[in-house]
Amino acid sequence: MLRKVLKWTGGIIGLLVAGLLIFYFTMHIKVKNKRDKIYDVEVRMFEIPSDSATVAAGAHIYATRGCADCHGADMTGKIFMDEGPIGTLSGTNLTRGKGSKVAEYTDRDWILALRHGIRKDGKSLLVMPSYEYYRMTDKDLGSLIAYLKAAPPADHETAPPRLGPLGTVLSALDKIPLIPAEKIDHAWRPGRPIPKGPTAEYGQYLSMSCTGCHQPNLKGGESPIPGGVYVRDITTAGNIGKWSEQEFIAVLRTGNTPDGRAIKNEDMPWQMTNKYSDEELTALYRYLKTL
Ligand code: HEC
Ligand code: HEC
Repeated sequence: MLRKVLKWTGGIIGLLVAGLLIFYFTMHIKVKNKRDKIYDVEVRMFEIPSDSATVAAGAHIYATRGCADCHGADMTGKIFMDEGPIGTLSGTNLTRGKGSKVAEYTDRDWILALRHGIRKDGKSLLVMPSYEYYRMTDKDLGSLIAYLKAAPPADHETAPPRLGPLGTVLSALDKIPLIPAEKIDHAWRPGRPIPKGPTAEYGQYLSMSCTGCHQPNLKGGESPIPGGVYVRDITTAGNIGKWSEQEFIAVLRTGNTPDGRAIKNEDMPWQMTNKYSDEELTALYRYLKTL
């Protein structure tokens, strides 16, 4: 009797292990195919200026769009995710120093990375959120690229991306935005330029940087970062409905809410939003109030 039971349990465990291995292998192949896919896109070129006013405008964009969270305030790259089973990911060195991939970048390569999320070899960059940036105006994207090109070369090597078993499964199931090129409309073309100003229209333009976490409809949802806190609704259905403009600005500058919560920068990057100008925060508030 005992032998029979043992035989059965052994058999069931064996089947389970085999099932898991097949599942994992399928996920692994799926992710490998996504990573190896070659994207053939038409890169629309535009003028990248190099004057100092443009470079200064680019520095503001770099500081307010989250680039520093992954590539470092000094642009030389840093580890932004180090979770054993999920993986280890670093933003790369964006200066032309040692360890950088941009040393030989042409204007086309910069545009390919930021508008399409694609590397020089035609494959998608990994985890680089170009889907949040590709709809920037030519002027803003040009300023950002001008700033990157003007960075003094600094040496810093970052390790290549490592995806653990859990990271592989989550990527295959689209729970981690591993492949930005998949999330971009490569045929997108900029419309008329959006005038800067404290307007809802300009706020809508700026809110692109919020959609990666707060979702395209800004109603929030599960965190895109595995294990991250729930991302709140920032339409009028949430606290935006009751906060005054001054209260909203204070939250984005300090992380402290009128109801006494202290939001952590790791959850909601207020150290980034505190670099927005008053005009930009007013524009965001006016836009969110329309939702
Ligand atoms: C969530 C983290 C994250 C954010 C935010 C981010 N990047 Fe990246 N970026 C990456 C990673 C990771 C890579 C390398 C991807 C790879 O090697 O496949 C990368 C690659 C790049 C590249 C291609 C060069 C290279 O080394 O392959 C450029 C250019 C770039 N990022 C610029 C920016 C700029 C400018 C911003 C802000 C507008 C930004 N990134 C925001 C993570 C990020
Ligand atoms: C990296 C992800 C991320 C990005 C990018 C992000 N947020 Fe958030 N945000 C969060 C999370 C998570 C919370 C909830 C934090 C909490 O509950 O402690 C939050 C909370 C907020 C709150 C407070 C809401 C409340 O009811 O307490 C506001 C306001 C807000 N975000 C606005 C913005 C705006 C505007 C942008 C774009 C400029 C933005 N966020 C970009 C993740 C993000």
